Amino acid sequence: MDAADTDAARFPDTYPMPRTCPLDPPTEYRLLRAERPITRIRLEFDDSVVWLVTRYADAQTILGDPRFSSDFSTPGFPARLTAQPPGPGTFIRMDPPDHSRLRRLLLPELTRRRVEAMRPAIQEIAEKLVGDMAAATPPVDLVQTLALPLPSMVITELLGVPYEDREYFHDTTKVIGDQSVDPKRRIQVRNDLKEYLDKLVAMKEAEPADDVLSRMCARREEAGVSREEVVGIATLLMVAGYETIANQIGSGTVALLENPDRVAELRADPAKLPDAVEEIIRHQTVIDYGLRRAATEDVEVGGQLIKAGEGVVVVVASANRDEDVFECPDRLDFDRERHDHFSFGYGVHQCMGQILARVQLEIAWAELFGRIPGLRLAVPVEQVPFRFDMFVYGVHELPVTW
Ligand code: HEM
Repeated sequence: MDAADTDAARFPDTYPMPRTCPLDPPTEYRLLRAERPITRIRLEFDDSVVWLVTRYADAQTILGDPRFSSDFSTPGFPARLTAQPPGPGTFIRMDPPDHSRLRRLLLPELTRRRVEAMRPAIQEIAEKLVGDMAAATPPVDLVQTLALPLPSMVITELLGVPYEDREYFHDTTKVIGDQSVDPKRRIQVRNDLKEYLDKLVAMKEAEPADDVLSRMCARREEAGVSREEVVGIATLLMVAGYETIANQIGSGTVALLENPDRVAELRADPAKLPDAVEEIIRHQTVIDYGLRRAATEDVEVGGQLIKAGEGVVVVVASANRDEDVFECPDRLDFDRERHDHFSFGYGVHQCMGQILARVQLEIAWAELFGRIPGLRLAVPVEQVPFRFDMFVYGVHELPVTW
């Protein structure tokens, strides 16, 4: 083996790569950031060769540049050949102008004001869930008692799902998020959900109420959005706002339980909670796989030419640990100097639910640690089943006791 071969062997050639510690991204990211911040790599999931982007500055450049497309059908986009094309209304996978037209319809619904108006309802849901949990005999699985039902119930509030349908809705969302369920059954359930949302839209058209879906239906014609697209936006809200929050609660709770000093810090000064939530969202980046894009023109980024038709994976979990931006990035530090992180993305596709996400997480952790002071893992952290195999990182189960 000559020197060049030995050097090449230091760098991974397939993605993703395994973690050594469940609460930290793979150690290879540090090496890539330092020496090959934009590198060619083979993706295991579709066997394509793409550019892997690991540094903060390059991530920001690419996510903010309209020459990088989010559309599955753009040549070079990293997607499985068997992947179903995203349906109408799924604007997370579209580029402007369709993306902007659809995003605009939803925009007024997830503002700070609207989210604050939902806060008492979210508080009530979290109190009930944590109250039931505290009344149970430990150990319990925190995923089933809090992480999954909280965002599912919040979405029913948001969309205005009638009370009598809520149980159906929760059971359905649970199946979609549960990887142990047969994939065929999950596709079937997803189609059922779409059918259900279609009926719900018809109901909101006939009898508008004070909810997101009714207001989108009322505004849609003027905004040039079809009825089918409104159903698609409702489905997108379900998909984007459920698994992400559930896993952020899961992995964030493990990170807190593994850092008892941080929990003590929060107990001593509850006003730190918003900073703590922000830091946990950075540290435990649940969009673990990264954000996929394809170049529509030749673009030079950080001295590297990316050609039109080449795919890119922006590893936000690595950018969020970039030592050029975050001092001691692996430390969970509620007092660190604030820098924007990329857990909610960046650029035109930046997460629309981020205000709602922060409020849910604040309420969930305040309730959990306020109500159950002795909360701890019921098994050693090595035995917690982490979602090493998923696009969204987190935990399959989280056995806790007190
Ligand atoms: C911790 C929780 C969450 C995380 C980590 C998260 C993360 C993200 C990220 C990284 C993107 C950008 C995707 C890209 O650039 O390709 C995104 C987009 C989006 N998110 Fe979230 N999200 C969360 C919660 C939510 C919630 C609660 C909702 C709504 C109920 C939501 C709705 C959306 C929508 C609609 C988009 C698409 C925006 C666009 O394409 O213009 N998300 N999210």
